[in-house]
Amino acid sequence: MRPGPPNHVEVCQSIAETRKKLKAAKRPLGLVPTMGFLHAGHLALVKRARQENETAVVSIFVNPTQFGPNEDFGDYPRDMSRDLRLLEKQGIDFVFAPDVGDMYPADFGTVVQVERVTEQLEGASRPGHFRGVATVVTKLFNIVQPDRAYFGQKDAQQLRVIRKMVDDLNMPVDIRAVPIVREKDGLALSSRNVRLSADERQAALVLARSLDAARQLYDAGERNAQRVRDAMRSTLADVPSELARPDYVSVADADTLRELERIDRPALVSLAVRVGPVRLIDNICLG
Ligand code: PAJ
Repeated sequence: MRPGPPNHVEVCQSIAETRKKLKAAKRPLGLVPTMGFLHAGHLALVKRARQENETAVVSIFVNPTQFGPNEDFGDYPRDMSRDLRLLEKQGIDFVFAPDVGDMYPADFGTVVQVERVTEQLEGASRPGHFRGVATVVTKLFNIVQPDRAYFGQKDAQQLRVIRKMVDDLNMPVDIRAVPIVREKDGLALSSRNVRLSADERQAALVLARSLDAARQLYDAGERNAQRVRDAMRSTLADVPSELARPDYVSVADADTLRELERIDRPALVSLAVRVGPVRLIDNICLG
């Protein structure tokens, strides 16, 4: 797709057209899968993809199969024209933005189910979520056929699940991880943050504070995982439960995502907290 007219992003809804056009694109080709309503977190992935590839493709698709029946699929924020302006500025070549009906025709009947690393954390709280993610990412990989795909550390379990899927199924895609982008005050950027009131926005800082508490203990030499989880819970308890209701607090093996007793190997420290109308997640890696 490069060189083309500068600052022109091509947008395509059709699966067949996308395949055809991208077949002729210069390699390597980098894909950034997103659900749109882009913020600086997404744009960090986009910048990496732009820098590291001849062709940079972004997909925008709010994937219904990864939302539970009581989740916010209907309310998920969308703004395609704003997204396209942002991507144009980043020099993205091609945006794939399919329709739900084309991705999931009425007779659709195949799923990709990654075992074990999908069972805990987000997987336990959101049954079927990772089946939806793995299935749609497989479809996106098959349609776009990227050499590389970019995922944020923000969704650490998703990144782990995608890496496992790509390994297990021998998908010829190099998965690249991008660090979490945060606001100045520490809140991890999320499309859902726009739905927080001013009080809720303030309360949401407790996630980053709780992770700071974990980091401080670890840096001071604490290796007992339960003591770290306890310190995180006690930080969360500083905020009234009407404002912030913890869902889980975890100190897990970064590879298997099983809870640790001792932090004697790389650990993923993560949490999910309901703040007002949204469920926020955040994490850090230790070791
Ligand atoms: P979405 O939530 O739109 O996120 C797209 C990508 O942006 C993900 O890889 C996510 O980890 C990354 N991201 C979001 N906020 C970030 C932040 N603050 N810092 C760094 N990266 C951040 O994740 C999905 O969409 C979907 O599950 C998808 C993979 C597209 C499949 O439908």
